[in-house]
Amino acid sequence: MTSHSAATSGSDRVIIFDTTLRDGEQCPGASMTFEEKLQVAELLDAMGVDVIEAGFPIASDGDFESVREIARRSKNSVICGLSRTALGDIDRCGEAIKPAARGRIHTFISTSPLHMSAKLNMTPDEVLEASIAAVTRARQWTDDVEWSSEDGTRTEIDYLCRCVEAVIKAGATTVNIPDTVGYTTPEEYRALFETVRARVPNSDKAIFSVHCHNDLGMAVANSLAGVKGGARQIECTINGIGERAGNAALEEIVMAIRTRADVLPYQTNIETTMLTRASRLVSSVTSFPVQFNKAIVGRNAFAHESGIHQHGVLKNPATYEIMTPESVGLSKNALVLGKHSGRHAFRDRLKSMGYTLGDNAIEDAFRRMKELADRKKHIYDEDIEAIVDESMQNAHDRIRVASLAVIAGTQGPQKATLELEIDGQTVKTEATGNGPVDAIFNAIKELAPHEAILELYQVHAVTEGTDAQAEVSVRLTAGDNAPVTGRGADPDTLVASARAYVSALNKLQAQAARGARRHAQHDGV
Ligand code: KIV
Ligand code: ZN
Repeated sequence: MTSHSAATSGSDRVIIFDTTLRDGEQCPGASMTFEEKLQVAELLDAMGVDVIEAGFPIASDGDFESVREIARRSKNSVICGLSRTALGDIDRCGEAIKPAARGRIHTFISTSPLHMSAKLNMTPDEVLEASIAAVTRARQWTDDVEWSSEDGTRTEIDYLCRCVEAVIKAGATTVNIPDTVGYTTPEEYRALFETVRARVPNSDKAIFSVHCHNDLGMAVANSLAGVKGGARQIECTINGIGERAGNAALEEIVMAIRTRADVLPYQTNIETTMLTRASRLVSSVTSFPVQFNKAIVGRNAFAHESGIHQHGVLKNPATYEIMTPESVGLSKNALVLGKHSGRHAFRDRLKSMGYTLGDNAIEDAFRRMKELADRKKHIYDEDIEAIVDESMQNAHDRIRVASLAVIAGTQGPQKATLELEIDGQTVKTEATGNGPVDAIFNAIKELAPHEAILELYQVHAVTEGTDAQAEVSVRLTAGDNAPVTGRGADPDTLVASARAYVSALNKLQAQAARGARRHAQHDGV
C-alpha cells in the first residue's frame, strides 16, 4: 500500500478508494443505518479496498460515529473521512479517524470560476489560502492527507496548477481532480492529468487521483483515461451508486483492469470473487436495485439466452465470455445445500461466501435454511444470502413476527391475523385493508403504534421459479431522521412483507435509541 508515500506514474499499482459510504450514501434514498455501514465497511476491508471513505464526520453525529467505529474496526484499509476546508471540520474529521491504524483526512473545496463565485462567494486567492490552511491543519492529525479541487474539470488550468503546487507544498499526499458534474471526456481527462503533472514542479511528491461522476455515462472510461494520464488512485463506488447518475462503478473498473491487462497494464488489490457479494449487499442495504444488464454484477451479465450464444458457450465458454462468472464470485446456481445438510456444511458454505458470523446468527440462519428446505426444492447461494443478510440485520430486534394468516383474493375485504412478539411478549390482532399487504401493515400498526411514513415497498424474486423466495424491502421515515430500509425474505411474499415492515420498525427504534443516547452524552447525563 503506497498511500503514505508518493507513487510515481511509472508504478502499475492503482489504489482503489471506495466512497460507497460517503458519495454513494449521499444520493437520495441510499442512506444506510449505522449497522449497515459497518457491514459494508467490513466487506470492503476484507475485499482488499485500499482506502474506504467512511463518511463526512461534520455532517451529523451519526456520520461522525460511523466513521469512528469503522476506523476502530478496520483491519487492512486506510479509513478516510471527508471534510470541507473549515478548520473546525478538519478537527472533527481528525477526531473521527483517530482510532484507525491508518487514517486519512480528505479535504475539498471548489476551484472552478462558477463554483467559487456562485457557491462559495470566495475569490481564487481566498480558496487557495483556505486550501493551504486546511491541508496544514489536517497534517497535524495524520500524515495521509488528500486535497480535492471540486469541479476540477471546469477549473482554469493555470489556477489549478497553482493550487496543486501549493497544497502539495503544504503536505497533501494525494491530489484528487474530480469531474464533479460528469462533464469531461476520456481524452480531455487524460490530458488534464498529463498537463498538471508536467507543469507542477513538485507533482512527483503526491499521488494523483480520479473521481468521476456518470452524468454522460463515461465515469468508468474517464477514470481509466485519468490513470493513463498518470493518476494512481481511482475513487469509485459499489454498483456505481452516487449523486445523480452515480460515480464510477468499482466492479467495472477492477474487472476492466483485470480483463484488459494488455491495454490497461495496472494492478489492484481487489479480491474479485467478492464483487458479486459486495454488489448484492449494497443493493440490499440501500434497496437500490441493480439494473439487469449492468456490467459485471447485473443479473444478465453472464446469462446467455440466445440459442446461438448458448451453443457457443457450451462448446467453449471463451466464445462469448470475456471473463468467467466465477472470477466475480458468481456461483453457477448450483444446488448448494438441502434438507439433510448439517451445521458443519452450512458453516463451511457461509465461510466460502465470505461471511463471518457469531454463533447465534449462524444458528438462526441455519434454522431458517432448514425451514426453507422443507418448502423449496432447490436452495441456492442467493437463498442463503437473503436469509443471512436478514438474520444479521435483525439479530437484536425487539419486535418479531410470530405468526401470520391472511385472507386474500377477489372477495374483499382482505384480512390479516397477526401475532407479534414485542420484547418477549406475544400480542395478537386482526385488521383489514385495501389488499393483503395493506391489511398486514395495518395490523402491525395496531400492535406497534408509530407515526412512520412508508416511502417504498419493493418485491423481488431471489432466484427463478414459482417457489422462489420473495425478498421484500420496506423503507420508512420518521420525522427528520434518515430513512431506514427493512428487508424480509420468504417463499411467501406476504410473510416477507410483514418481516420487512417489522425490520424497518426495529431500525427506526434503534435509530431513536441511538439519538437519545447521543443527546444524553452531550448533556453529560
Ligand atoms: O464529486 C466531487 O467533487 C466530490 C468531492 C467531494 C471529492 O465528491
Ligand atoms: Zn463526487
